[in-house]
Amino acid sequence: MAKLVIKSKLKNFNKEITVDGDKSISIRTLLIGSQSYGMCKIYNLSKSEDIMSTIAGLRKLGVKIKLKNNECYIFGKGLNSFNYKKNLVINAGNSGTFARLLLGLLIRSPNFIQIEGDKSLSRRDFFRIILPLSEFGASFKINKKKSLPLKILGSDLIKPIKYFEERGSAQCKSSVMLAALNSPGTTTIIAKKSRNHTETFFKYLELPIKIIKNKNLDIIKVDGETQFKSFKYYIPGDFSSSAFFIVMTLLSKNAKLKIKNVNINPSRIGFIKIISKMGAKIKILNKRNLQGETIGDIFVKSQNNFKSINCPTNLNSNAIDEFLIIFLLASKASGVSHFTKLSEMNKKESPRLKLGSELLNKMGIRTIQKNGSIKIFGNPNLSIEKKINIKNFYKDHRIFMTSVVAALCFGGKWIINDVDSYKSSFPSFLKLLKKLGSKHYLI
Ligand code: S3P
Repeated sequence: MAKLVIKSKLKNFNKEITVDGDKSISIRTLLIGSQSYGMCKIYNLSKSEDIMSTIAGLRKLGVKIKLKNNECYIFGKGLNSFNYKKNLVINAGNSGTFARLLLGLLIRSPNFIQIEGDKSLSRRDFFRIILPLSEFGASFKINKKKSLPLKILGSDLIKPIKYFEERGSAQCKSSVMLAALNSPGTTTIIAKKSRNHTETFFKYLELPIKIIKNKNLDIIKVDGETQFKSFKYYIPGDFSSSAFFIVMTLLSKNAKLKIKNVNINPSRIGFIKIISKMGAKIKILNKRNLQGETIGDIFVKSQNNFKSINCPTNLNSNAIDEFLIIFLLASKASGVSHFTKLSEMNKKESPRLKLGSELLNKMGIRTIQKNGSIKIFGNPNLSIEKKINIKNFYKDHRIFMTSVVAALCFGGKWIINDVDSYKSSFPSFLKLLKKLGSKHYLI
């Protein structure tokens, strides 16, 4: 696969951009739309590979989906209306969110359905989902590692469950919420705080959901077997994608950037809280509510000084996908930053905490990384002259994009392998960089 070469820093830009539609919300829209009754009209769906895997998987289950320009039409036939053919194999590609959430919708399948994924997804843990879904009444055929490929067999004798989600995983919470839609009675979830797009979606559709919010936990009750009508939905810009451009602008010389129509749901923006504590100044303009989600325009410009941080762990779940890019800011901060209780990062598309630490070491930044925590010894004068080669990162899109931002901000001569990896979440990433003046090229 082609490699990306970057030999010069990015500077002197003053632009307005939009990023691709939010990946988490795009997947939820397709899955929930497939259970609605009638034709859903979706605007600005992400065109990332994870979303294409979701569409292909749903089509295999008999759901008609049409893509036309920036619109997507889902023809739902109601709850539990999938066409469960025999020997069905669904390939989730790189998408943990699609695979785990879809399993929640398969708890009534009369036939075994095989779920498989790419090399990266096949090393990830599925036991976290198998446990609660088994309690509903589904059965599984699994390998020793409790990972993909696996087979799920649903049941007609599904019963609602009481589930304690203790990781702060929105995927686990959402999978159980989707399973609850197809179960009789009330499912109760006690969940550590995590992104709440599924709850917000259920409320937008006026599904029977009750939420009691406590300081660290939410109690969520979902009544199942309520049919619901199709809907219209506008997918806002992806905050996690925006984070790469925010840090890149902060660290570039003479740069200003406005990112329009970004989802700034309070349960997603731990990143802003963390980098604000490090001294970054981020402005949110034109804040508004859309379909229960908060969206706004983000304005950011170059800055010189950043402080180190002892990162509060209660922000971890709300910034879980943004830590790699936060680590780049910590590399340029004065002092030693400390991030703890991040072992979940090693369970993402790659062992991200470990690889993130190695990336910083390649840049000449000292780190101590052990037991799910990392200390980063920042260098405010960081400037790279040498050659840096990035490979063997399980094609993790976020490792790829973090490396690109590091190359464009700190200098050096970078060759980054597996250039297609960013497409799993952010297909317009390189195009947008060109717009800002990046001189990267492929070999
Ligand atoms: C996601 C939840 C998070 C996140 C992932 C998307 C979601 O995973 O890392 O990129 O859309 O629900 P976990 O729930 O496993 O933390």
